[in-house]
Amino acid sequence: MKDEIAAISDELREALDSVSSESGLGTLRVAYVGKNGRVTSLLKQLGGLPAEERKEAGRLVNGLKGEVERLLAERAVGLQSAALEAELQAEWVDVTLDPAQHRVGNLHPTTRIQYELEDVFVSMGFEVLDGPQVETEHFNFEALNIPANHPARDMQDTFYLEDGNLLRTHTSSIQVRGMQRLRPPFKIIGPGKCFRCERLDASHEATFHQMEGMMVDRDIKVAHLVYFMKTLLSHIFGREEEVRLRPGYFPFVEPGFELDIRCLICAGRGCPVCKYGGWVELLPCGMVHPNVLRAGDIDPSEYSGFAFGLGLDRLVQMRYGIEDIRHLHSADLRFLRQFSH
Ligand code: FA5
Repeated sequence: MKDEIAAISDELREALDSVSSESGLGTLRVAYVGKNGRVTSLLKQLGGLPAEERKEAGRLVNGLKGEVERLLAERAVGLQSAALEAELQAEWVDVTLDPAQHRVGNLHPTTRIQYELEDVFVSMGFEVLDGPQVETEHFNFEALNIPANHPARDMQDTFYLEDGNLLRTHTSSIQVRGMQRLRPPFKIIGPGKCFRCERLDASHEATFHQMEGMMVDRDIKVAHLVYFMKTLLSHIFGREEEVRLRPGYFPFVEPGFELDIRCLICAGRGCPVCKYGGWVELLPCGMVHPNVLRAGDIDPSEYSGFAFGLGLDRLVQMRYGIEDIRHLHSADLRFLRQFSH
């Protein structure tokens, strides 16, 4: 039996060297330790041996069984890692980019102007605030002196959500949130996306960007407002552009103004962007209405302020001579790559 055990061990080692698949290994397992396998039949023979031989033979056969199982398990591990290695080799992917194909993206022109303006205003002591795009009626309208059923709500038709909230129609909601958090004196700007249910044309989008601005302190006057508006525009255009200030109605300012810029697409001759009027509405503004200050828990007999709501996309149009606002959100790379300097 000793010889047979040694032979089985040698044969198995040889067979294991040449087995190359899980199924081949399975066949070997059956042949050696299966119900009628070679090791199993040796075990079965133990019962027929004389008692004095049985103990030693049992030790040897059980030793063989342990060895066979160990060898089979080791080979199984070897086959599994070989299979994994083969799979990794077959599915190898080069995750590095071909430098010739590598193209770095660039900031959207609206983002670029937004960042530039943030720098200008931060340098003048303004804080940059953010606010949610989904707003409550309170922050978008009521706290801005536009109660429910007020006709001024028609000026900004919006998208309502089923829960009664809405997509903010202007960044003025950020000034309301700012007043909740800050105590005068303060100076803030709040850039962001706005949404309106609009008839689209060369200067109207359903999604567009504004930058709100607000300054509240003692004795703030229209002169302060004009100073900051001029600084803003001269920075963006690098020279004095022709602007006009005319009365404008917004329930949250009194007096209110519309600051228009001479259309830079047509040099004021008339085009679809300025609706053939030669002027583009860019920067409505005014002195903060006392009711708005009160809603922000600020005493209007002690403090006053100005606010403005700059249309960022139209500013981009004017600066780069873009004849249709819809290019900005078209996701057309031919358009966007022009700003990759
Ligand atoms: C407002 O939204 C006021 N909240 C602005 C304001 C703030 C006034 C603080 C006074 C004090 P208006 O609806 O005019 O106002 O929009 C402001 C600017 O946003 C416009 O001059 C224009 O440049 C831009 N704008 C408005 N609607 C659109 C639109 N559909 N597409 C592109 N730009 C728009």
